[in-house]
Amino acid sequence: MDLRLFKNIVILTGAGISAESGIRTFRDQNGLWEEHRIEDVATPEAFAQNPALVQRFYNLRRAQLKDPNLQPNAAHKALAQLEEIWEGNFLLVTQNVDNLHRRAGSKNLLHMHGRLDRIFCQFCDEKVDWTEDLLTQHPCPSCGRLGMRPDIVWFGEMPYHMEEIYAALDKADYFISIGTSGQVYPAAGFVQLAWKAKKIEINMKDTGISAAFDSHLVGPATVEVPRFIQNFLTN
Ligand code: APR
Repeated sequence: MDLRLFKNIVILTGAGISAESGIRTFRDQNGLWEEHRIEDVATPEAFAQNPALVQRFYNLRRAQLKDPNLQPNAAHKALAQLEEIWEGNFLLVTQNVDNLHRRAGSKNLLHMHGRLDRIFCQFCDEKVDWTEDLLTQHPCPSCGRLGMRPDIVWFGEMPYHMEEIYAALDKADYFISIGTSGQVYPAAGFVQLAWKAKKIEINMKDTGISAAFDSHLVGPATVEVPRFIQNFLTN
């Protein structure tokens, strides 16, 4: 019996894990924040001032999820396989709002920054799965008011599931961060909170928080993640 498999593992993913599936990251060259100002499309104030612009930004992203060419890649799939084998606690926390982890088969998955394929009512909190464009004035199916917005955690808002994530980090024996620049808190601070974990970072390059990790694997996620998991399970 391999006792390692009964330990607690927490994995954090960012835009880099979906990059090779064809979803643009935010801060790399040609990233989304080169074309759009965060203040214009990713804050509650922006939505209040120009809802049409904000909806258009997320409608485009949501429409991409329907592109048949958009598929989970080898890194998403390897994480789903690891979860299937793992006997201890396994938590996958993603900052991504795409649906690729779910489509790859990940189950214990928390979308801390929300989901593109869901909307919610600002008045009654009703959440609705949503794959179409969202108009600025869309009635809530529950309360009827015109308050539906993307279920995205914008800058200045509280990420989801924080209590559950902090509890898992506190118990984590392994913390693995994949494809995130470590520039956005609270996710960037998770490595500090996983106080007893062995910490591994997988990224195309060093990040601003690389020094906090015990080891680094540098390269594309589709290569490094399956390779890491293979070694992890056999060594
Ligand atoms: N394989 C591994 N890492 C990659 C790859 C790849 N193929 N391509 C890019 N990366 C790395 C980059 O080196 C970078 O460190 O992924 C990271 C992407 O960083 P960001 O664009 O900043 O994305 P992320 O860290 O997920 O952003 C966090 O910021 O704007 C917000 O809400 C948004 O959830 C997002 C948050």
